[in-house]
Amino acid sequence: MKHVRDEYYAQPLNQQDLNADPLAQAEQWVQEAIDADLPLPNAMSLATVDANGQPSNRIVLLKGVEQGGFTFFTDYDSQKGQDIAANDRVAFTMFWQPFDRQIVVKGRAEKLSDEVSTDYFHSRPYDSQVSAAISPQSHAVSREWLEEEVEKLKKDCPQGPVPKPQRWGGYRIVPSEIQFWHGRPSRLHDRFRYQKQADGNWVIERLAP
Ligand SMILES: Cc1cc2nc3c(=O)[nH]c(=O)nc-3n(C[C@H](O)[C@H](O)[C@H](O)COP(=O)(O)O)c2cc1C
Repeated sequence: MKHVRDEYYAQPLNQQDLNADPLAQAEQWVQEAIDADLPLPNAMSLATVDANGQPSNRIVLLKGVEQGGFTFFTDYDSQKGQDIAANDRVAFTMFWQPFDRQIVVKGRAEKLSDEVSTDYFHSRPYDSQVSAAISPQSHAVSREWLEEEVEKLKKDCPQGPVPKPQRWGGYRIVPSEIQFWHGRPSRLHDRFRYQKQADGNWVIERLAP
């Protein structure tokens, strides 16, 4: 691999600049990435661990920061869904390169209500509803089978809304720890960790980069 060595020029990040509530702080960083029209500003790399302790990760899209957690939508029967059913401890990372910013979140995933998932499912474009409804995510299929299933469902349900399958829905990741990383010159980066205490308060510490 060609030698790559970037320098980071972000402004200092001090503890007094940070919101006492790390969810509000994280939401602010996501919003700033959205406002700057960064590509995929809500993409997060989500790590789960299966029943044998094997980790895996993949990109999903953050859909909200609400009710004490970070929400995303998926298929409960997918690899990640099966992992979470066996072990609800998850972690995710978001990185906004032009801002030299990263957040790393650890927590537990809980399912959103079927009502919330149904409302969100029906807010998606018709073709996305069809694809999600016919796709048994993470299971082996052929392209031909997928396309036939799309055609069948479009015939049965030409106008929409498409019925949401039981296996499709959202999760809320309720954090126990959130780290904020800000790239700084000469690798002397700024890093702050929030850890949730038993009384619900957050303790903030600067970590060595
Ligand atoms: C930019 C991008 C956004 C994605 N968003 C989602 C998402 O919001 N939900 C989802 O289930 N999969 C999403 N995917 C697909 C996942 O990365 C993954 O392939 C899929 O969820 C199956 O993962 P699993 O087999 O590990 O469960 C996205 C992929 C990319 C590259």
